[in-house]
Amino acid sequence: MLSKENINSFVRDGYCVLNIDLPCTAVKQAKEIVWDFTPPSFIPAEKNSWIGMVKDSCIIRSMDDRKGRLKFRDGTRGFRSMRALTFYNRELCESVKSLIMPHTGILKEKRFMPIYRGIYPIFSQNSIEDRIRGHCDTHFFQVGSVVYLNDVEIDGGAFTVWPGSHHIIAPHATTLSHTHKPEGFDQLCERVERSINPVQITGKQGTVILWHHRLLHSAGSNNLGGVRYAMLCDFKNGMAEEKSSDQSGQVFDETWSPDVLAEYKKRL
Ligand SMILES: [Fe+2]
Repeated sequence: MLSKENINSFVRDGYCVLNIDLPCTAVKQAKEIVWDFTPPSFIPAEKNSWIGMVKDSCIIRSMDDRKGRLKFRDGTRGFRSMRALTFYNRELCESVKSLIMPHTGILKEKRFMPIYRGIYPIFSQNSIEDRIRGHCDTHFFQVGSVVYLNDVEIDGGAFTVWPGSHHIIAPHATTLSHTHKPEGFDQLCERVERSINPVQITGKQGTVILWHHRLLHSAGSNNLGGVRYAMLCDFKNGMAEEKSSDQSGQVFDETWSPDVLAEYKKRL
């Protein structure tokens, strides 16, 4: 269960931060698996070896161009450790349910639907970004989660958010999809990016960030010399899934939990 403060933060800022206990063996194994997926030339203790063209689950691209960010998705889902750190993690799932599952009523029978994303390491790079750029995801979900597998400091690959941006973006994202961007959507995101100060979310191993699907965000950049390891998983419920093609543009609607809705209505 999320605390009242967490729910308030999620409604107001579009995200909340909590800490959970992670199974140590799973964390260790997940980190080791990353090195099985990277090129043989990558040596864990030698950051100067983390260079060149790399293929991940999305694209073949140079480490410099991609700012050290890799995504290992489907190929990692079969590992028990990866599942234990995402959709099989009880504490994580119960926290998300505080946001998108009802205590009673119509949603009771609706499915809780985790969508596994994978492990997203960020390898430290020498080049520094002049400005962190935010984006809004195009696929449909309600709550995204980022689980840190190591301690994450400022400029160490901290997930970065623009607090409150979900309130501005959601009404304009009703038809947003992989193949369609509403007119003026990029310009809107750019205005939001410039008008709100981004926050790098730091935290110890076991830090969990839960964020609203319309929140402007960025993976963050890592210049501290190590690797930032994080698991990503998205969540939605069956009712939201059915409605996804006909979104009202509301930041929160009846597909969210009564606690979230009560807090949201207080703010209207
Ligand atoms: Fe994203």
